[in-house]
Amino acid sequence: MKALVLSGGAGTRLRPFSYSMPKQLIPIVNKPVLEHVLDNIRDLGVKEIGVIVGDRAAQIAAVIGDGSRLGVRVTYIPQDAPRGLAHTVAIARDFLGDDDFVMYLGDNMLHDGITAIAEEFAVGRPAAQIVVHPVPDPRQFGVAELAADGSVVRLVEKPQEPRSDLALIGVYFFTPAIHAAVAAIEPSARGELEITDAIQLLVEQGATVKASQYHGYWADTGRVDDVLECNRKLLDGLTRRVEGEVDSASELVGAVVVEAGARVVGSRIEGPAVIGVGSLVEDSHIGPHTSIGRDCVLRSTRLEYSITLDGATVTEVRGLHGSLIGRSASVGPAAGAGQHRLVVGDHTRVEVAA
Ligand code: G1P
Repeated sequence: MKALVLSGGAGTRLRPFSYSMPKQLIPIVNKPVLEHVLDNIRDLGVKEIGVIVGDRAAQIAAVIGDGSRLGVRVTYIPQDAPRGLAHTVAIARDFLGDDDFVMYLGDNMLHDGITAIAEEFAVGRPAAQIVVHPVPDPRQFGVAELAADGSVVRLVEKPQEPRSDLALIGVYFFTPAIHAAVAAIEPSARGELEITDAIQLLVEQGATVKASQYHGYWADTGRVDDVLECNRKLLDGLTRRVEGEVDSASELVGAVVVEAGARVVGSRIEGPAVIGVGSLVEDSHIGPHTSIGRDCVLRSTRLEYSITLDGATVTEVRGLHGSLIGRSASVGPAAGAGQHRLVVGDHTRVEVAA
């Protein structure tokens, strides 16, 4: 079995971060979402992974490389524009050959792993095995209608009137039967070749298409609020590890990770929280549910339920909550009392106390 991981896409819902970095590299507990995805695939025993990349290919390759650090072999497959999930299967045809494969959306976190679903697929070897999860608003997803035995009766992409609350989430298992279906479909109303349509065609042709309900924690990390919430959820599983320096005036409470080369000085870190490699936290109160990236500086700051990306600086700001602070961004006090000064990039959101 091989894997196809989708790591293109514009990431418009993650602006402004997606202006400068692919959304799949947003860190969750200081590890890019895409690495969480590749770890899950490696846990299936799958080593050969094709990664579909768009115009952010170079940044993705700089982080993931040839995959050897993660115990897999990565082949990059460029896609010229976001032309749909089924289009990625078509352009990966040579890479996939006649192997079964798992297709995995590179911004989807299925934290509890997909081993059980892979085993189900291996036993029955249906033409396609989709993964579904109940969601409050299925209109934003591909939606599955199932028979009592778990076989798929009908799939519709982003229906106005959904016939169930079961959304297709970002993992699909296929036999090579999918290739003929992909070749036979036409672009949808949004101009994309939809994998949902290709699977629906398999259903209409009488092929076996199965659905597995995923009961674990799932998140599509497409929006800032999802990223923070996913980070919170994963931090809840943290165990304490202190590799950096913590001075005697500091206090660590609960599950706190202080990575190598990080320094905690005169501060209180309330777990779960992680302080990344080379960061300095001084006279601050950090956490709970907070991830500090690499080489950040936090001084006289109170920050909870937040993420700072690599190289960010936060000085003398108290009461930060639910914040995602970008790479090398700087947040600090204004020169004049009672003033606010903002240098804010495109599509940025700032909420200040009234
Ligand atoms: C895609 C699929 C959709 C699926 C969703 C899961 O939608 O087309 O069927 O439910 O991923 O995240 P997109 O993110 O391209 O709108």
